[in-house]
Amino acid sequence: MTTSHLQTTGDVKDFALAPKGKARIAWAERDMPVLRSIRARFAQEKPLAGVRIAGCLHITTETANLAITLKAAGADLVLCASNPLSTQDDVAASLVADEGIPTFAIKGEDKDTYYQHIYAALERRPQVTIDDGCDLVNTIHTNRTDLLAEIVGGLEETTTGVMRLQNMVKAGALRYPVLAVNDSDTKHLFDNRYGTGQSTLDAIIRSTNLLIAGRNFVVVGYGWCGRGVASRARGLGANVIVTEIDPVRAIEAVMDGYRVMPLIDAAPIGDIFVTVTGNEHVVDRQHLERMKDGALVANSGHFNNEINIEALEALTTGHTTAREFVEGYHFADGRTVYLLAEGRLVNLSAAEGHPASVMDMSFANQALGAEYMWQHRGQFTPQVLVLPADLDREIARLKLATMGIQIDTLTTEQQTYLSSWQEGT
Ligand SMILES: NC(=O)c1ccc[n+]([C@@H]2O[C@H](COP(=O)([O-])OP(=O)(O)OC[C@H]3O[C@@H](n4cnc5c(N)ncnc54)[C@H](O)[C@@H]3O)[C@@H](O)[C@H]2O)c1
Repeated sequence: MTTSHLQTTGDVKDFALAPKGKARIAWAERDMPVLRSIRARFAQEKPLAGVRIAGCLHITTETANLAITLKAAGADLVLCASNPLSTQDDVAASLVADEGIPTFAIKGEDKDTYYQHIYAALERRPQVTIDDGCDLVNTIHTNRTDLLAEIVGGLEETTTGVMRLQNMVKAGALRYPVLAVNDSDTKHLFDNRYGTGQSTLDAIIRSTNLLIAGRNFVVVGYGWCGRGVASRARGLGANVIVTEIDPVRAIEAVMDGYRVMPLIDAAPIGDIFVTVTGNEHVVDRQHLERMKDGALVANSGHFNNEINIEALEALTTGHTTAREFVEGYHFADGRTVYLLAEGRLVNLSAAEGHPASVMDMSFANQALGAEYMWQHRGQFTPQVLVLPADLDREIARLKLATMGIQIDTLTTEQQTYLSSWQEGT
């Protein structure tokens, strides 16, 4: 890459894809009314005028709408991919060609290019960072500490990123405050559950065209994403099995009506396995070697290390591509186990990620979070923060309003009752 030119354009696959990307961004925009209303206010008030923001995000139609919103607020924005396989190349092209937002992202880029793109985005010397998985924060804290002096704060989109940030706090390593957007109620309760639920099933169906009904569908991890994946798989008629390490989540899965068992017992009976834990090697060698012929393994957690791919390679004699995003690994005894989308988050790699309607709330949190971080610059020590509850509630209120749904309000009498302690039996 020659850096001076790329600093204004970014690095995308093919600018000829821009018209398709523009149309798809507009399609997503229709279903993002909360973000649209924030954008209208931002365009008037310019709360981020001249603020340099670097976003390391999945380059999707919904992210494009967030980017356009931040630009409307006056931000000087640069984007790079937060996963090598989740970029929508038409969207990346349109962001540069139509919106003038430098974007460094190519679907299928190798790990070196992925990090080159992160470093290229950091050349803009951001004052605010937006991450999905903590790779920007991590890169800044390890190899670009010279940038720290100018950074006022960051935002983090996903559970795995928040976990990494909390580990940085524990180790005394975090050098600037980061808002855990993931932890807003209007983010994880909806995006992680309904977004991951629907789009993970969408990706499995798009890439395989298999019937889900009647199959043993193993969900590894019953957190926010796991609950969504399990419920959508059940909705399609699968026999859902949940595996967990947390006894409370395991009881919840039992009471939600699922079979719960250790993964080692589920391994030989499962037809489809989906990991959503944010943990490493949850599908490990001992599970892979017990799987039946034709089993499908997919990951919808943040990193592809949820599946021990090295063990799968070591256990098998070779692999062949069955369909796009479906790689068959052949065992010497004749079995084939299929890995979807190289173990990368399947919903973004083999489908389009979360539907716009749910990202409307997640990215409303990001937009208001960026404004909040900038307005409160210098006021927080390095820590992991959450968006104030009143902003979280406001996003829910706006979303309900756009859905045409009204709700009740507390009477004065009820407000007094709920804040008193004297009244009893
Ligand atoms: N694919 C997407 O679009 C998308 C969207 C949101 C979040 N995520 C990612 O999905 C992952 C899960 O997020 P979440 O919000 O559901 O997290 P969560 O913390 O709510 O749930 C994770 C669950 O996994 C369980 N778990 C951990 N190790 C396990 C193991 N070895 N076996 C079985 N269960 C295990 C935990 O006990 C927990 O219940 C994270 O990596 C997150 O970043 C992906």
